Amino acid sequence: MTSTTARLTVQADQPKAISPDLFGIFFEDINYSADGGLYAELIQNRSFAYSSADNPDWNFFTGWELVSGGGTCSIALGTDAPIHPNNPHYLALNVDGAVGLRNTGYDGIVINAGATYDVALFAQMLAGTIGALTVRLEGRLGEVLGEAVLPAPTGTWTKLTTALVATGSDNHGRFSVQVSGAGTVALDVISLFPRATFRNHSNGLRPDLAQVIADLKPRFIRFPGGCLVHGDGLGNMYRWKDTIGPIETRKEQFNIWNYHQSVGLGYFEYFQFCEDIGAKPLPVVPAGVCCPNTGARYNGLWEQGQCGIPLDEMDDYVQEVLDLIEWANGPVDSPWGAKRAAAGHPEPFNLEYLGVGNEDRITDVFKERFLLITNAVKAKYPEITVIGTVGPRPEGEDYEDGWQFARDYQIPMVDEHGYKSPDWFWDNLGRFDAYDHSVSTTVYLGEYAAHDMGRRSTLRSALAEAAYLTTLERNGDIVRLSSYAPLLGKQRRSQWEPDLIYFDNTNVYPTINYYVQQLFGVNAGESYLPTSLISADDKTLAASTVVEVQSGDLILKIVSRADVSVELQIDLAGVVNLQPEAICTVLSGAPLAENSYSFWHTHIVKPETRPLMVAPRFSYTVPAHSLSVIRVRTR
Ligand code: AHR
Repeated sequence: MTSTTARLTVQADQPKAISPDLFGIFFEDINYSADGGLYAELIQNRSFAYSSADNPDWNFFTGWELVSGGGTCSIALGTDAPIHPNNPHYLALNVDGAVGLRNTGYDGIVINAGATYDVALFAQMLAGTIGALTVRLEGRLGEVLGEAVLPAPTGTWTKLTTALVATGSDNHGRFSVQVSGAGTVALDVISLFPRATFRNHSNGLRPDLAQVIADLKPRFIRFPGGCLVHGDGLGNMYRWKDTIGPIETRKEQFNIWNYHQSVGLGYFEYFQFCEDIGAKPLPVVPAGVCCPNTGARYNGLWEQGQCGIPLDEMDDYVQEVLDLIEWANGPVDSPWGAKRAAAGHPEPFNLEYLGVGNEDRITDVFKERFLLITNAVKAKYPEITVIGTVGPRPEGEDYEDGWQFARDYQIPMVDEHGYKSPDWFWDNLGRFDAYDHSVSTTVYLGEYAAHDMGRRSTLRSALAEAAYLTTLERNGDIVRLSSYAPLLGKQRRSQWEPDLIYFDNTNVYPTINYYVQQLFGVNAGESYLPTSLISADDKTLAASTVVEVQSGDLILKIVSRADVSVELQIDLAGVVNLQPEAICTVLSGAPLAENSYSFWHTHIVKPETRPLMVAPRFSYTVPAHSLSVIRVRTR
């Protein structure tokens, strides 16, 4: 058989309003997504804050090495009189003669000839006499690619800054501080930033990674997690106040994904990024409980580690959540709005959504704390849409209990998660049709991905996701938000596969799944037109039609997992003022194809666009294993 037939009818006279925010993204600092990834800082362990809590093999000097300049030296972890109580450690370097302190970044520092690099460090003389400090960009063999001299440290903590213009390039470069004299100097927060960041913000983001994210046209960004939010124990929860202000005053901590969070990419930077790319911020705060898997990597007790913030500390915690809303939206003369203004953003960030909790077990401990938080938010900020949680899976005890709890307390929205096989997605295309559309609780599909064999990012997985996304459009009255997970994965530093976008220090590698997300993001609509499909096999095709209000365009999406092409008779007879010249974008290939960017083998499946003539009734050949997006003009 070379082809088959099917019929698709669009009822243009029955538009249904759907969520304008349906397609967004979820950013979590997993897989080195933030430090070593999107956050453009080039120095690893800039504050000597690494420890065995991050990773059993690490200590305060991880990422650094000493280089003899002819002198001798010793190092110690300094704790007396740090720069700030939130940043309690520094390097105490005792030298006699000349020595170098070298950082190799995150698998090397990318140095580009002609580019400017901003250097900043804090120094203080503790004993003896230390001379001027020399900072250097170095190639992998130690060749000097830029050098400047900073003043000699004094008896008080002083921030010393300079800029270096690279005289050569090396993707595996290094950075060093040359110290000479006889005495002990304290060093901390040694930072090296490329001047060119996304939108040129200081303490900013890597431009290529930020841009590939922006190109998804996400309507919102959920951050900072994930499991990262509720943390491996109460002490590891992500507390937003620890992540704002000058970087030397932020509170670093271990990352639940077995590395370290500098929180240099903190709440201000997250909100700023949202604003930069026109996405609504969707911060998630812990629901007053830690991850149910706390300690499990050591004791093997999965889903049994949840504990709650003591009730006598909950007033303070609830206030912390309320303060976040004031920080985001409050006037500049409010206490927290003033802090936002002082950071350079007097205008409000227009926070609309707030996630409370992530994949928590729906226990009494959870419920009590969740209600304390959300009742306070509802009372003070009724305009905020609070998003609850219904566990880690799209079925099971926490899912059932979470939904019952949401219905009982009329939680506006809940965050559903689902990592499943491609077949599961195709088998569940009717899932949200079967939901009760009259209940007040709506759905955020906050984490999902089709996990193919070997957790590979195949076209088959991408098309399963695409088919499912057509059902979100169809049910866009109750499914208000969605985001694939995880977003980023650094090659050879990843803890979770698959990820939407892979990257290394110099390149980004979008998966086929990325292009599916992008096609839905740039072709989203605000109303849905009932779209019926009649075919011999209802498990191989999926379709939806939306209208983009601003342009008036009608956008059809057709997904096929058939092994042969399908001759599709499309009926748009009810569309007023249909224009014959449409644009058709197709993503297709072999079902097990994956995007491969290696030096030896580059194979990239990505969308191709061409003009397409359409009519009130026309025939379209749906390629085997494909997503087609047909944009029809009506003006
Ligand atoms: O997306 C990766 C992880 O999956 C998230 O941190 C967590 O919420 C889920 O279990």
